[in-house]
Amino acid sequence: MSPIDGAQNEIKASALELIGNTPIVALDRLYTGPGRILAKCEFMNPGASIKCRSSLHMIKRARQSGELKPGHPVVEVTSGNQGCGLAVVCAVLGHPLTLTMSKGNSAQRALHMEALGAKCVKVPQVEGTYGNVTLADVQAVEKVGLKIVEETGAYYVNQFNNEANAQAHYDTTGPEIWRQTGHHVDVFIATVGTAGTFTGTSRYLKEKNPKLLSYVVEPAGSEPIKGEPITKPLHLLQGSGYGCVPNLFKFDYMDGTVSITDEEAVKYMKLIGEKEGLYVGYTSGANVAAAVKLLESGKVPKDSWIVTLLNDTGLKYTPVPNELT
Ligand SMILES: Cc1ncc(COP(=O)(O)O)c(C=O)c1O
Repeated sequence: MSPIDGAQNEIKASALELIGNTPIVALDRLYTGPGRILAKCEFMNPGASIKCRSSLHMIKRARQSGELKPGHPVVEVTSGNQGCGLAVVCAVLGHPLTLTMSKGNSAQRALHMEALGAKCVKVPQVEGTYGNVTLADVQAVEKVGLKIVEETGAYYVNQFNNEANAQAHYDTTGPEIWRQTGHHVDVFIATVGTAGTFTGTSRYLKEKNPKLLSYVVEPAGSEPIKGEPITKPLHLLQGSGYGCVPNLFKFDYMDGTVSITDEEAVKYMKLIGEKEGLYVGYTSGANVAAAVKLLESGKVPKDSWIVTLLNDTGLKYTPVPNELT
């Protein structure tokens, strides 16, 4: 028994219990109304991004089904954040982890994964430039990842086709938003990478509130969900906007799209820092830029409460000294 009654109840059993249940914050200084923008602080997950949620769900599901045996190695293809999330989960559960990632994704993510004991194989870009990763780059990374799976017999997480990815958000992100807002949410907005976040969260919220409107944020010029031809495959919204409609995406859960330029994402990333004291990454900037755009467009009632996500920390993108890259 602890000297202070109940003190033991505050102890988390492991980093896995730090995943999810993130706070939701009103961006009332950045956007003063009418309407309100509420943002979930996903950068507060132990892997510093929203992708911890799907990492935990996908690994748990594979262990429960017997597909992944204790101590068995794991491989995944990642833009970095899924890798950081899996590195948290695999470190705690004792699975050796290998990640393949484009050299165009931020070097900080590779440092983070490696610090958690994972191996990161950095694949040269075939099309994009550092900070701008295209579909062709992702396909090159996937090729290397699949070769490692074939050679080692490791468990392949396969986030783009793993239903447990979207289920993570149906089971956690959606219910948290519903509870935290006291059931007051009119609009949901999210960027789309694998679509796990958008599909799972939007499905849950629409089941709870059939009048809720859900919008996808796409990088300007790379808007396949809107149905436009790709005119600008290079953009700053790393982890999203790959120029194709992902398999986990379901049009049933979407009411429209919002197009965001790199300049708009950067402007709002800065404003979130300067007005709200939160240092976040590019897709977070894009989500908030889209929320403001939507409120100002008249496409949603002007007093709407819009919920969106601060997907990861800005620290993942700050330039690092050359010797670390
Ligand atoms: C920074 C960032 N934002 C958004 C997303 C998109 O999330 P999802 O894959 O659930 O669509 C990702 C995915 O890796 C990401 O890294």
